[in-house]
Amino acid sequence: MSLSTLQEIVARGEKIAMLTCYDATFAKLMQHAGVDILLVGDSLGMVLQGAENTLNVSMHHMTYHTKSVAAGAPNTVIMADMPLGSYEHDNEAAYKNALWLIKSGAQIVKIEGGGERVNTARYLVEHGIPVCAHLGFTPQSVNQLGGYKIQGKTEASAQKIMSDAKAMSDVGVSFVLLEMVPAILAKHITETINVPTIGIGAGVDCCGQVLVIQDLLGIYTGVADKNPADHKNPRFVKNFLKDTHSIQQAVENYVHAVKNKSFPASENCY
Ligand code: KIV
Repeated sequence: MSLSTLQEIVARGEKIAMLTCYDATFAKLMQHAGVDILLVGDSLGMVLQGAENTLNVSMHHMTYHTKSVAAGAPNTVIMADMPLGSYEHDNEAAYKNALWLIKSGAQIVKIEGGGERVNTARYLVEHGIPVCAHLGFTPQSVNQLGGYKIQGKTEASAQKIMSDAKAMSDVGVSFVLLEMVPAILAKHITETINVPTIGIGAGVDCCGQVLVIQDLLGIYTGVADKNPADHKNPRFVKNFLKDTHSIQQAVENYVHAVKNKSFPASENCY
């Protein structure tokens, strides 16, 4: 599997199944289940470290987990998140940090945001680093966005996401990831830009889907000091383990559901 194989998958109309992954055991299991992209997401700050958000994840955390995933899945494309503070301020630092992730085993890095981040993406792409642009709800900006909220609901905000997606496509990113945006907007973006879209809470018309593995298994119940009973999953989360007793089977069922377009269903969309 390589980035160009993924472009071929999209070109023949097949959906891309992506999952977050943080260690070698799950990486091996996911590779065997046919997951197309393993995302070493900075969501590890929440699901592994028990934090309330992703803001304190460091480059050391990201490279440690990227190496672990690469060891378990040598034949699967690995995307690694650039954590908050590792890419925003100067392009040279962004390049060095992206290269560190690539040397740790990632084939592509993910950065959050549009606007000024378009220049960051352009710089990385021009220097040979494949990039995925994460738009819509961007967890590293949770405080500026006022919490975990759907983006692109107003005309102005939908237009901003669309123009950021176009600008990112124009500078040569490999994917645009859309999080928590109305399905109709994600469909429009997917039909308009020249690169594949991957959705999480963005409807079935994206070229691929991603979920956090702990959400797929129904085992994430919020931060450590909160009562699990008080945890409410976002609507795009689906527990694939509840109909089977095997984690391997649950992951395979997710891949199958993405490929045959039964996930996300309308109740998982905005
Ligand atoms: O960090 C992460 O897991 C992500 C996904 C939510 C897309 O960015």
